[in-house]
Amino acid sequence: MEKCIVVAYDRNRGIGARGDLPWGRALPADLKHFRALTIGKSVIMGRATFESIGQALPQRENIVVTHRTLDAAGITAVDSLARAYRIAQHQPCVIGGASIYEQALADCDVIYATEVDHSFTGIDRYFPPLDDSWYEYERQSFPADDANRYAYSFVTYKRA
Ligand SMILES: NC(=O)c1ccc[n+]([C@@H]2O[C@H](COP(=O)([O-])OP(=O)(O)OC[C@H]3O[C@@H](n4cnc5c(N)ncnc54)[C@H](OP(=O)(O)O)[C@@H]3O)[C@@H](O)[C@H]2O)c1
Repeated sequence: MEKCIVVAYDRNRGIGARGDLPWGRALPADLKHFRALTIGKSVIMGRATFESIGQALPQRENIVVTHRTLDAAGITAVDSLARAYRIAQHQPCVIGGASIYEQALADCDVIYATEVDHSFTGIDRYFPPLDDSWYEYERQSFPADDANRYAYSFVTYKRA
């Protein structure tokens, strides 16, 4: 089954700041896009990302990678990314954070990236640069508007 990564990063590939998204809640279009990409799939995330989200995402199988014993409603905790792939009942979508993206890049087939056209301060988590095995497959760009404070692009990367 095709494995995908879903990520949003800024001009410097920053994905996180102080345990949250760098742009906070200022990009509802990205949340909607994220929901559309992941509904009905198996979302795989690190423990810190799960804590940042605060609850299981509805209408998706939630798999949390952790070395700890985690007992939270609606999630399955596993001790490795490989195990997460093995138990996933639907298409595996890796949704972060930085440590999980780094491990997932090697064997993932497609990346759905939201590229936010802004440089944020206080970034402490990054998405790794892509090597030559990836190419840009599709791009849709949108200006900032009343609801979305920053311009952004939805970009799909595939393996060459
Ligand atoms: N912009 C985006 O698209 C996006 C998406 C997701 C997250 N984020 C941001 O990214 C930040 C969180 O990222 P992060 O890198 O700090 O944390 P993370 O990747 O979400 O979680 C890290 C934790 O995952 C567990 N883990 C990682 N690899 C493991 C392995 N191989 N085996 C077992 N457990 C493993 C460990 O949990 P234990 O310590 O429990 O063992 C580790 O401490 C936040 O700021 C969040 O808002 C951004």
